[in-house]
Amino acid sequence: MIVIASDHAGFPLKQELAEHLRAKGVAFEDIGCYSAESVDYPEYAARAARGVADGTYDRGILVCGTGLGMAMAAGKIRGIRCAAVSESYSAEMSRSHNDANMIALGGRVIGPELAKQIVDVFLSTEFLGGKHQRRVDMIGALETE
Ligand code: RB5
Repeated sequence: MIVIASDHAGFPLKQELAEHLRAKGVAFEDIGCYSAESVDYPEYAARAARGVADGTYDRGILVCGTGLGMAMAAGKIRGIRCAAVSESYSAEMSRSHNDANMIALGGRVIGPELAKQIVDVFLSTEFLGGKHQRRVDMIGALETE
């Protein structure tokens, strides 16, 4: 199960991504926001990230204006590796090397077709493990600082 969330700036792109996931038959939950009325992105990032961290969701997709604030906020939650992504190569690497469990997209940065491609890559790319697992574990160790 995938969780998707946005603030007002990411709302239009989130709606497009929701339609894309629906068309592809991907199970997801949209936890808001549900309109273009101004909201605070850390609230939505945290709710989605907590759900990924506790296993309610397998992965998460966040959308704000830039993807940056959402990624910063989500990354504060223990166990979350959220990548702010604007192109497909980074989306692939975020999975294969970093085992990202969330991505954050900028609704004011990228268009819907690129965003859909990024989401598809994010959802279909497996983590390579091996030496990358050791490095991901090192990221986790930083959470105690
Ligand atoms: C909202 O205006 C904007 O700051 C937000 O969507 C996001 O881009 C923050 O990183």
